[in-house]
Amino acid sequence: MIKIPQAGRDLETIAVIGAGTIGSAISISLAKAGYHVISTRRRPDLNAGLKAYGITVTSDNVQAVTSADMVILTLKPADLVSEMKKLSQILEGKIVVSMAAAVPIRVIRHILPRSFIVRSMTNIAAEVNAGYTPFCTLEEDEGKISFVSRVLGVFGETERVDEKYMDALTALSGSGPAYILTIIEAMMYGGLKVGLPRSIALKASYQTVMGSAKLLAMSGDHPSAIKEKVITPGGVTIDGIYELENGKIRTSIMKAIESSTLKARKISKDLFPEESDKN
Ligand SMILES: NC(=O)c1ccc[n+]([C@@H]2O[C@H](COP(=O)([O-])OP(=O)(O)OC[C@H]3O[C@@H](n4cnc5c(N)ncnc54)[C@H](OP(=O)(O)O)[C@@H]3O)[C@@H](O)[C@H]2O)c1
Repeated sequence: MIKIPQAGRDLETIAVIGAGTIGSAISISLAKAGYHVISTRRRPDLNAGLKAYGITVTSDNVQAVTSADMVILTLKPADLVSEMKKLSQILEGKIVVSMAAAVPIRVIRHILPRSFIVRSMTNIAAEVNAGYTPFCTLEEDEGKISFVSRVLGVFGETERVDEKYMDALTALSGSGPAYILTIIEAMMYGGLKVGLPRSIALKASYQTVMGSAKLLAMSGDHPSAIKEKVITPGGVTIDGIYELENGKIRTSIMKAIESSTLKARKISKDLFPEESDKN
């Protein structure tokens, strides 16, 4: 029987197994939200900084899992499989959320048949509660799904999706911050090229990206509708837009997401050939 802690009544314990880049980011976010977090990695000394957030840092996966209400696995795909095999008995009856790219639920379920399995994909903005964290599960249990949504909701927006979208979302929103940060860097360089001081160029770039995204999210408009308001006939913006179109910026970004999606599918196929044969 899986125990579902009640919000505000129990101090919920979340174990984050494999707290490298993304595991550390979500550990910080969860700790700030008031969860008791136990983070593990093989070299816990590298995560000593997490202790300042009240996070328990250890290399002992068994101890972390044993006391956890939910276990989030932020291991690389190959490490995930071997570690789940080692921990399968103590993961029995637990809610297990895999954040690993390219590992299908059926693979996880095969190794952990008596756990409540969720596959999810957050992004690095989870550290500041501004990520996008889709998740999927093959199970139907309202109480557990709402507990999972509440915990993943700490990382920003979350929603349940069909598993068939996970490789594409890994490419779009999981890898997405890397694309957007490249654009912000390019904007900053543009500012430097026309003589802006570095700090002003950087702030103007990221604030413009943040503001445009917020306006889009809050208005519910299509991006083109807002863009048209900025592009005045014969004005300044249309000259910039002309150069962007000339440089095929939209094609580049579409190709980036398509390539990353194909890579996620390839990793999955290489690691789990028997699963891709079933599809
Ligand atoms: N980076 C992102 O933005 C991002 C976003 C969403 C999802 N993901 C997914 O998250 C996973 C991890 O990615 P990452 O970028 O965070 O990689 P990472 O920085 O290399 O983190 C993986 C961590 O796993 C730890 N580890 C390996 N074997 C372990 C074991 N047996 N027990 C405990 N810890 C162990 C490693 O610890 P040591 O270094 O101490 O050996 C390492 O710190 C991947 O599957 C990736 O697809 C990443």
